[in-house]
Amino acid sequence: MTRSLAADDAAELIRRAYEVGPPRPRPLPHAPPGWRVQEQAAGGTVAGRLLGKSALVTGAARGIGRATAELFASEGARLVLSDRDGPGLAQLREALALTPGGVESVVGDVAEPADARRMIETAVRRYGRLDVLVANAGIIPFGNVLEATPESWDQVMAVDGRGMFLTCKYAIEAMLATGGGAIVCLSSISGLAGQRNQAAYGPAKFIASGLTKHLAIEWAGHGIRVNAVAPGTIKTDRVRLLGEEPGGASYLDAIRRMHPMGRLGEPVEVAQAILFLASDEASFITGAILPVDGGYLAQ
Ligand SMILES: NC(=O)c1ccc[n+]([C@@H]2O[C@H](COP(=O)([O-])OP(=O)(O)OC[C@H]3O[C@@H](n4cnc5c(N)ncnc54)[C@H](O)[C@@H]3O)[C@@H](O)[C@H]2O)c1
Repeated sequence: MTRSLAADDAAELIRRAYEVGPPRPRPLPHAPPGWRVQEQAAGGTVAGRLLGKSALVTGAARGIGRATAELFASEGARLVLSDRDGPGLAQLREALALTPGGVESVVGDVAEPADARRMIETAVRRYGRLDVLVANAGIIPFGNVLEATPESWDQVMAVDGRGMFLTCKYAIEAMLATGGGAIVCLSSISGLAGQRNQAAYGPAKFIASGLTKHLAIEWAGHGIRVNAVAPGTIKTDRVRLLGEEPGGASYLDAIRRMHPMGRLGEPVEVAQAILFLASDEASFITGAILPVDGGYLAQ
């Protein structure tokens, strides 16, 4: 017969559950030996959610990539940052120079196989493994199908399509050698639903969604999780520039009103979702495409 708790016992359990104290270290089941929780200046201890994990962020010099790199650094990751924008990348590397986990940078184009391979190899050479890939590098051409050119189609397919394919391919090769890892791809609301003025970009983001699902199934049995985030419109430089183009401001205002929360997103709000999917907190999640869109896709 099960014994019901005496009222005093129950009160004590509730008190303990709500006990206010310094943050406790979280268990780190997959952290490599030798990695410890970080001491916080405030006196408590906290385990970085990526402590000891080697992570490559592509397109890290700006926007969502940069916010992700900064957040990953604060969560204890050992970083490789890549971008084709050399000066932007150098500036970020300098800003993150004191990252305890270490920072490497690789200037290169994700659409070029040799460059994409070099990004992954840099992580393996410096840290011995690659645990996390954030396949973020992308370009965002706006325009309807009459305005889109064969060249703009090829360009976005090369970067957002082929570049994501290449970085995932070489990352998976590296992850298989060390027993697994986590990939987070950047899809978009335009990779799950139709939108106006995204005749070339939208289909490229459907590739991101499709690649995520196919790779997730292919490698689920090998310890590799593949997920994506699908951001709504986020206040990055690219979107800000759009606002400065003729008619851009009213277009952006219309887009803002299409987001049920009535505002555009911040890069760090996407980075938080990427962090979750990259971390062990998402250990039973693969093949998911997580909207970070202020409710856009719920309509
Ligand atoms: N901003 C948004 O509203 C939004 C919404 C949904 C999805 N996304 C996706 O998020 C990702 C990042 O977008 P963002 O808004 O931060 O863009 P951004 O233009 O601010 O930053 C993109 C970064 O990628 C780099 N890059 C571009 N092409 C590259 C290449 N071939 N090789 C290496 N690096 C390259 C750029 O130099 C830049 O630093 C993209 O994949 C984009 O499709 C953005």
